[in-house]
Amino acid sequence: MDKEIRVFCPATIANISCGFDVLGVALDNVGDEMVVRKTRKKGITITKLEGQDLPLETHKNVAGVAGLALLSASDYDGGFEIEIYKKIKAGSGIGSSAASSAGAVWAMNKLLGEPFSNLDLVKFAMKGEELASGVPHADNVAPAIYGGFTLVRSYDPLDIIKINTPSELYATVIHPQIEVKTSDSRKILKTTISLADGIKQWGNVGGLIAGLYTEDYNLIGRSLTDHIVEPIRSILIPAFDTVKSASIQAGALGCGISGSGPSIFALCKGKSSAIKVAEAMQKVYTKVGITYDIHVSSINLEGVKKMNP
Ligand code: HSE
Repeated sequence: MDKEIRVFCPATIANISCGFDVLGVALDNVGDEMVVRKTRKKGITITKLEGQDLPLETHKNVAGVAGLALLSASDYDGGFEIEIYKKIKAGSGIGSSAASSAGAVWAMNKLLGEPFSNLDLVKFAMKGEELASGVPHADNVAPAIYGGFTLVRSYDPLDIIKINTPSELYATVIHPQIEVKTSDSRKILKTTISLADGIKQWGNVGGLIAGLYTEDYNLIGRSLTDHIVEPIRSILIPAFDTVKSASIQAGALGCGISGSGPSIFALCKGKSSAIKVAEAMQKVYTKVGITYDIHVSSINLEGVKKMNP
């Protein structure tokens, strides 16, 4: 059995418009790297953290906390060292904390001979999400661990369903260079919704799932609508409405807030369409003078994966 493993930890788009806290998808071209090593010393030590200014102390680091949850459920007698190479910016809305939490527990499970199921790993990784945002939401860590699209059908008991990924689906994500903390963008949400909004929202969730399974791109596009969260959170995102309408005009199936923002995502049919949408989004931000990162990515069907050392 290996003593050390290097893993790719994918970025993820959570919510996917209509599925607040329940839907998510993993990306191929954006993600962190992590090296996890077995040690005789018990506990977890974060020995390196590059790319972001985040705490190294195990109890303050999401990878550390998720890893401790795994350790306490395991009969393994030793510990782990973790090196984290962050490429996903914290507070970007594409699952930075989830990538670290999911990557750590996935790698540890591999090094221990896979005693835990993917569902167990999601439960451990949710401890990291709780540390990062105050809420143990699973809609980023589930796709990071399972790959593809996932649905959190229930939180209690936790029930995760992996959803089909249509073969031509691509994602475009633009990240305006401001930081929005998930904890802050959750605070502004209302805690109740109207029945009328509920009806619209669960119609779209069902439509999106049906569209993903039947590979009906038009149905996917029609269902990428959020009547509950987007109208409130979009005020935090520069030129959101303009970016959204420009990307739809450029051929996106649909467009919305990635996770808790400020990144904006679009789903597209085919790579060339996703590139056109990226150009349209960039044009808007260039015009209004906002700096950004942009990503065009296929869907990551595997989730966290082993890399060559
Ligand atoms: N569902 C979470 C939220 C995702 O929107 O607050 C955070 O990335």
